[in-house]
Amino acid sequence: MFHKTVSIAFASITIFSATTSIAFADVNKGQKYYLKECKECHGNGTKGAAMLEQAEWKDMFANGNKEMITAHEESNNEKAKKYINSDKFKEHAQDLFDFLHEYAKDSGKVPSCG
Ligand code: HEC
Repeated sequence: MFHKTVSIAFASITIFSATTSIAFADVNKGQKYYLKECKECHGNGTKGAAMLEQAEWKDMFANGNKEMITAHEESNNEKAKKYINSDKFKEHAQDLFDFLHEYAKDSGKVPSCG
């Protein structure tokens, strides 16, 4: 009886943490990805996130990151085109968005290191 209760408790904790990490993408992870993947073209994280306002970042990442992809495809920058169509960008997009949105131009916030 005791064992059964404990394992049910563990199972619920595991399920709970798995779902929360899916539901809430991570601002810190997004910052890390930004520094690795966007900084070389758009400058440090403060500058990058302040490129746009919160609502504009939402638009950029809506419909499967459509506007982000278009902006880079229209840039005629081969490296930017390749990156924006990569699996890496797709996989990190939700975390990147969270970071950029958190520190957008109109957020009044500045990231601590970056
Ligand atoms: C290899 C270079 C490169 C990389 C990597 C890159 N970009 Fe860009 N990005 C560009 C270029 C070139 C443009 C075209 C407009 C311009 O010159 O700023 C652009 C445009 C944009 C725009 C549109 C700006 C506007 O005013 O409409 C945003 C927003 C943006 N990038 C964000 C990002 C983010 C966030 C990342 C990382 C996830 C990223 N970019 C990665 C080169 C890059």
